[in-house]
Amino acid sequence: MFDMRDFNNRDRNSFGKLFMDLEVFHSTPEFDRLGLVKHVLEQFKISRDGDHGPGHWARVRLNGLKVGSMRGADLLVIELFAFLHDSQRLNEYSDRHHGARAAEFAASLNGQFFNLRAEQLDKLCHAICNHSGGDVHTCTTIQSCWDGDRLDLGRVGIKPHKDYLSVEAASLITSAYKMSRGVLCS
Ligand SMILES: [Fe+2]
Repeated sequence: MFDMRDFNNRDRNSFGKLFMDLEVFHSTPEFDRLGLVKHVLEQFKISRDGDHGPGHWARVRLNGLKVGSMRGADLLVIELFAFLHDSQRLNEYSDRHHGARAAEFAASLNGQFFNLRAEQLDKLCHAICNHSGGDVHTCTTIQSCWDGDRLDLGRVGIKPHKDYLSVEAASLITSAYKMSRGVLCS
């Protein structure tokens, strides 16, 4: 059963003040942000303290929103990607089909926690389904989602490479790498 106090205490201990605190995820009539995060966490099957847990989602969100803001991308799709793209993992390793399962999960939640138009949902599902394939994309929203994820590779000891990032995201490699390694940046 989900317990916000337990999660918040563990989260602060594990990830420090920068990372996900559910109290900051305010809901609006258009986007039940808190409800979505709780729902994703309740069904999450691997460790919340692992490489693909909520600390990662929070950094992907932050990175993705920074890049997406610079590029004029769809910030709602980017935020949903951050919360959902690793939500169906069964392990921390290859799990080849976790993206496809997460895309299906995301589509099932449209109309419950958020309301995407068909075009937005297509972008979200494409970004989620293909996020671990190493592709680059001409759609600014899809690429901003992948940029957000790739900028957090430092958590597993990998320095993000500009060839897999937009120009705007490449300008953030140094600061994102420090954040992914637990160094807080202003
Ligand atoms: Fe990820």
